[in-house]
Amino acid sequence: GIELGKLLASTGYITLDPGFVNTGAACSAITYIDGEQGILRYRGYPIEQLAERSTFIEVSYLLIYGELPTEQQLREFSSRVNRHTLLHEDLKRFFDGFPRDAHPMPVLSSAVSALSTFYQDSLNPFDEPNVEMSTIRLLAKVPTLAAYAYKKSIGQPFLYPDNSLGLVENFLRMTFGLPAEPYEVDPDVAKALDMLFILHADHEQNCSTSTVRLVGSSEANLFASVSAGIQALFGPLHGGANAAVLEMLEGIQAEGGDVAKFVEQVKNKEKGVRLMGFGHRVYKNYDPRAKIIKKTADDILGKIGGNDELLDIAKRLEETALSDDYFVERKLYPNVDFYTGLIYRALGFPTKYFTVLFALGRLPGWIAHWREMIQDPATKIGRPRQIYVGAKERDYLPMSER
Ligand code: ACO
Repeated sequence: GIELGKLLASTGYITLDPGFVNTGAACSAITYIDGEQGILRYRGYPIEQLAERSTFIEVSYLLIYGELPTEQQLREFSSRVNRHTLLHEDLKRFFDGFPRDAHPMPVLSSAVSALSTFYQDSLNPFDEPNVEMSTIRLLAKVPTLAAYAYKKSIGQPFLYPDNSLGLVENFLRMTFGLPAEPYEVDPDVAKALDMLFILHADHEQNCSTSTVRLVGSSEANLFASVSAGIQALFGPLHGGANAAVLEMLEGIQAEGGDVAKFVEQVKNKEKGVRLMGFGHRVYKNYDPRAKIIKKTADDILGKIGGNDELLDIAKRLEETALSDDYFVERKLYPNVDFYTGLIYRALGFPTKYFTVLFALGRLPGWIAHWREMIQDPATKIGRPRQIYVGAKERDYLPMSER
């Protein structure tokens, strides 16, 4: 403590806040969270109402433009997005360069980064029409890129988008359909995925969104900034947690389903094992998204079938953790990722693909934040300071004296 105090004094009292636990980086009008009470609102609208009554395309509009669209605004917005779902044929060839077993997240991030090379005329962050164009292109093309990353991994041909379908239906068809066979989108599957996308659409200054804003603060273009956000989301402490939860549940199942034993391992911090899908930097109460998702998991697994044994393990795990002092004292509750993997699995997605689904949902949030950041006159290039703790000045040593 004394040493750190001296160091801080020697730097003129820089605020040292690793992980930005208590440092505001921006004023934002997009999303409100009350972590103590478990409240989440997009542009003032409670997440529960949006999940029940809205659609992902409408929520995308709301996040990006600030208001719910009129019927005509929504129709125009949807049709503009639909008209841009095709990829340049040369961009499709990018996928040939990746190994077949490549994880789809870095493939998606690279492909989004590559978009900027195809639209070099629209990269000026201060040109409104260009920003608008890049917004529509991203919303339209990222689902196509995500579906192709999946098709690549299973060695199946790419399907062209069918723009008579909505965003989510089109994505499902490009992911699961085959060129020679008709593909009927299951409305229950489409509805469940649409709702999960709504729940993931924004979460204020989380790690990936802060990354998008930080990269964008150097006036880097929207494609480059979103590509960086996708990489930040990939980490297991952030979006990667949804896949890690399912692997954890399967691990417990393989060991005989003893949740109490697993919870003991977590409490003893054995090999750094954590209860994945639990805990949150901001929520010190039940994550409101997890509440909705838990109910959806029950509904959708009941409707279309799924792994009930894993759902049972998840529920017992939650129950055991929530009645244990370790988790109570630290205010650790299920977060958005605890039950999503079970739903994604029931919808037919492989584990490796779960975090890509998170990225599709978070995309409008990233875009909304980048646009807010670029328009805000208070924005400055993000440039944190540091406390230097390295060697004092010393003279260069010739090789023979080292
Ligand atoms: N399992 C066991 N213990 C935990 C967990 C967990 N999931 N999360 C936090 N803790 C413990 C920590 O060990 C620490 O205990 P200590 O005081 O004895 O050292 C205490 O709770 C505080 O935890 P921090 O790591 O300081 O909390 P932080 O806010 O930095 O981390 C995070 C939040 C990363 C989400 C963390 O809770 C975690 O790793 N959870 C598991 C991964 C996960 O589910 N991530 C998804 C988050 S939501 C999202 O990004 C979509």
